[in-house]
Amino acid sequence: MAFGFHSTAEEVADGIDLGGQTWLVTGVSSGLGHETARVLASRGARIIGAARTEAKAQQALDEVGADGMAVACELSEPGQVREAVEKVRASGATLAGIIANAGIMALPTLQQKNGVELQLYTNHVGHFVLVTGLLDRLADDGRVVMLSSGAHFLAKRGLELDNLSGETNYDAWRMYGRSKLANILFARSIARQLEGTGKTANAVHPGVIQTNLARHVSNAEAMFERLRPNMKSVGQGAATQVYVAIHPDNAGVSGEYFADCAVADTLKEAKDDALADALWEATEALL
Ligand SMILES: NC(=O)c1ccc[n+]([C@@H]2O[C@H](COP(=O)([O-])OP(=O)(O)OC[C@H]3O[C@@H](n4cnc5c(N)ncnc54)[C@H](OP(=O)(O)O)[C@@H]3O)[C@@H](O)[C@H]2O)c1
Repeated sequence: MAFGFHSTAEEVADGIDLGGQTWLVTGVSSGLGHETARVLASRGARIIGAARTEAKAQQALDEVGADGMAVACELSEPGQVREAVEKVRASGATLAGIIANAGIMALPTLQQKNGVELQLYTNHVGHFVLVTGLLDRLADDGRVVMLSSGAHFLAKRGLELDNLSGETNYDAWRMYGRSKLANILFARSIARQLEGTGKTANAVHPGVIQTNLARHVSNAEAMFERLRPNMKSVGQGAATQVYVAIHPDNAGVSGEYFADCAVADTLKEAKDDALADALWEATEALL
């Protein structure tokens, strides 16, 4: 069956048995992460749910009826992300996949952590620590799914590796776009590292969905009114990441960017392996 814009996460997961599998989902406390955990758990998966606090993660697991483990993982605190990595490793779990879904969007004024613009730090650097720390815990056919966004097209100045602080001409949406471009390039780097292993890494644009993500947007209601005709429900929004994560169609598919449950176009910078390498080096230098 072909899936597309209107497909829901439940539909793409229909008939797929995830019994015996363990999936790590970040941002499990809200929106698309919550729905993803719900649907994977409904197919029998054990969920390692990550949120800013263990209590929030546990509450989400309880709400979606998932068996598993709650992990505190404040992505803007590399020390806490490393503790999360240690907790997952200590559990002995083999991961069927990692869905790096948490994110923040369009901070109206420049905020920084350790001198780095906070959207890049949270959305990219935090997930870099988490995913690289757990890559060797992936199952033989394990899949990494990075939540990116069509907003990566807003990264009009590319990655701006000379402006990691965000201090040069800060713009909320351009900086969000940059963080989402970083998510694609990181997936690409991981895909190259996993080549020939059966393990994969891809990036996803979920669509436009009304969630808590817009909490920092002052005119969010007006924005959603304008976008409404092209918006998805939360169930539809979680479909592409669930499709890329678990559907047999995507076995062995790696290094791609998906939207509406299909491979989609990106900015040309998102296909630039030299830029992906430069991002990797810059991120390691930050850490
Ligand atoms: N919704 C859309 O239209 C849309 C479009 C394109 C891409 N995306 C991407 O989809 C992903 C999920 O977004 P969503 O719409 O589901 O948003 P959401 O409802 O706001 O959920 C985001 C999740 O990320 C968590 N999070 C945020 N900052 C964090 C941090 N510093 N450390 C740990 N967790 C943190 C949030 O936890 P708290 O609730 O505790 O803050 C929440 O669980 C994001 O990566 C987003 O960029 C969404």
